[in-house]
Amino acid sequence: MTDTSVRKKMTVTRFVDKKTRGEKIAVLTAYDYFMAKTLDRAGVDSILIGDSVGMVLYGEKSTHPVTMEMMLAHVKAAARGTQYALVIADMPFMSYQPSLEMAIANAGKFIQEARAEAVKLEGGIEMAATVRRIVECGIPVMGHIGMTPQSINRFGGARVQGRKEESRQYLIESAQALEEAGAFSMVLELIQADTAAEITAAVHIPTIGIGAGRDCDGQVLVINDILGLYDIYTPKFVRRYVDLPPLIEKAAREFVADVKSGSYPNDDESFLKRE
Ligand code: KIV
Repeated sequence: MTDTSVRKKMTVTRFVDKKTRGEKIAVLTAYDYFMAKTLDRAGVDSILIGDSVGMVLYGEKSTHPVTMEMMLAHVKAAARGTQYALVIADMPFMSYQPSLEMAIANAGKFIQEARAEAVKLEGGIEMAATVRRIVECGIPVMGHIGMTPQSINRFGGARVQGRKEESRQYLIESAQALEEAGAFSMVLELIQADTAAEITAAVHIPTIGIGAGRDCDGQVLVINDILGLYDIYTPKFVRRYVDLPPLIEKAAREFVADVKSGSYPNDDESFLKRE
């Protein structure tokens, strides 16, 4: 008998097909081997090594200080832990904006050196030419529009996009331009829900929302947010599934107490016999 439930490796083609079949897509961020392995086992369709790493792991105030060197190390680690999910590497600030040559070279590093299967970059219609060139080089690209964190200073803060007619129009045109340039998918971040629904209907590639309502083809969240492992700022759209810090603190307190009282290590946790 054939086991039809055998899990298949997620490819860009299967990712896009999910939209055609009306199947929702679940994406989470991960930045290291163990987390990626755990999320992969949990069944996520894609693991995004986001430049959010700068904020949630390094304690930076924005994604701006994140470098290619940092991203390559995190993508490498997460890719090693991933068997089934599609591994997408986020291109950090100034790794693709200055020139097409730079964009292609850095996108290539994620594939060649870090074993990513696709890259993501921020920006709408103005980034279409960059997306096209990277795709022409054989590298799948995920777009990212709405409140794009690398441009937060231009937005004047984390403001919901797509509320005014001009913004709505720009987002729809941008989504269509990214699809036309060859992007296989795009993130819609912090976009008014009805505008995100309109964008989703206007393109044939999957839209992955974060703070963009329920009508996107899929959803992405930052892993630290859903585990309670980031306490500087929790956006309204985050659903916290577990609050890990108290559990971690309890374990660490017990360890400290056990060491101080001498109850750790016990005989079973020691190597007692001589050869
Ligand atoms: O950097 C990141 O984690 C992201 C997602 C939140 C979409 O870009």
